Amino acid sequence: MEIITKINQWISDAKSDAQEARSEAELFDLEKKYLGRKNGLLTNVLKSIKELSDSEKKVVGPRANEVKKEILTIINNQRKQLQEKQSQSTKTIDVTLPGKKIVSGHLHPLTIVQNDIVDIFTRMGFDIADGPEVESEWYNFDAVNVPDNHPGRDMQDTFWLRAEKGKKQSLLRTQTSAVQVRYMEKHTPPFHVIVPGRIFRHEATDASHEHTFHQFEALMVGNDISVANCKHVVSVFFSQFFKKDVEIRLRPGFFPFVEPGFEFDISCTVCDAKGCSVCKQAGWLEIGGAGMVHQNVFGASGYEKGKYQGFAWGFGLERLAMMKYNIDDVRLFHSGDLRFINQFR
Ligand code: DAH
Repeated sequence: MEIITKINQWISDAKSDAQEARSEAELFDLEKKYLGRKNGLLTNVLKSIKELSDSEKKVVGPRANEVKKEILTIINNQRKQLQEKQSQSTKTIDVTLPGKKIVSGHLHPLTIVQNDIVDIFTRMGFDIADGPEVESEWYNFDAVNVPDNHPGRDMQDTFWLRAEKGKKQSLLRTQTSAVQVRYMEKHTPPFHVIVPGRIFRHEATDASHEHTFHQFEALMVGNDISVANCKHVVSVFFSQFFKKDVEIRLRPGFFPFVEPGFEFDISCTVCDAKGCSVCKQAGWLEIGGAGMVHQNVFGASGYEKGKYQGFAWGFGLERLAMMKYNIDDVRLFHSGDLRFINQFR
């Protein structure tokens, strides 16, 4: 049958056409030529089948469909090959191009300062401890001698967490002092430990107040620890931290977990105590509270009251970072502004 010979011939025609095609567009034209809905060679054959005799129909119909499939496979295979070739050619590397700059991460300024602090105290033989940020009312307040209704609670506005029915409410710890009793429950004096950590206060924010900030707590307990030990450790620490001599000053202050309690000042390192905008012309900067650990706190830790003495302090970390790097707004630390952060690379 003439028509069968013709359509068989199209297979080898399509094969050589496809091999010559250099682009997907050319393959598309080829597909149109044989299989296009309008005037495709095979489409036309199939359309005109009704004009054939019954016996011809039986042969031509199935064969035309087979050929259609074969040609489609030929074209698709060629398309795949073209695509592979193309992706290989884009994979070749032009070694003369300048390299892509790899942007590496770096530590946050507060982490740098915290690491510095930890280093200095580790060299002085201090242990480093931490505790949970979601804390119980007991460790954050009661255990450190701040019972319910105590005015000391008003000093620290607290983020309370919703409690399950029948369970006690937890909170976001307002002070690293929350770790004091946790640590003492597991350790027997003498010891000296530093607790750096993040704390939270439900407060309005401004250039010197944040709702989330950091402290480092110190706790040194033994049989004959005095305020003199505290002053010495603090002055050694600050001189190493700022790499120059720093004066310290204690003023009487009230904190429920210490007796006596102090406010702790250091000489302003920005102006060398001459008076500047950072220290508001005072020459001194307040860096936190300290004192001799209240015997009630030892009691809550399971120690026999009156057996030990110790000092504790809680200093703000942001303050130190701001002085060290001359930063004038505490909110920058958590702003997520990379223009600020990237200066500490
Ligand atoms: N926890 C106090 C605060 O956040 C700071 C503090 C004061 C800690 C005196 C102490 C201390 O350990 O002895 O305001």
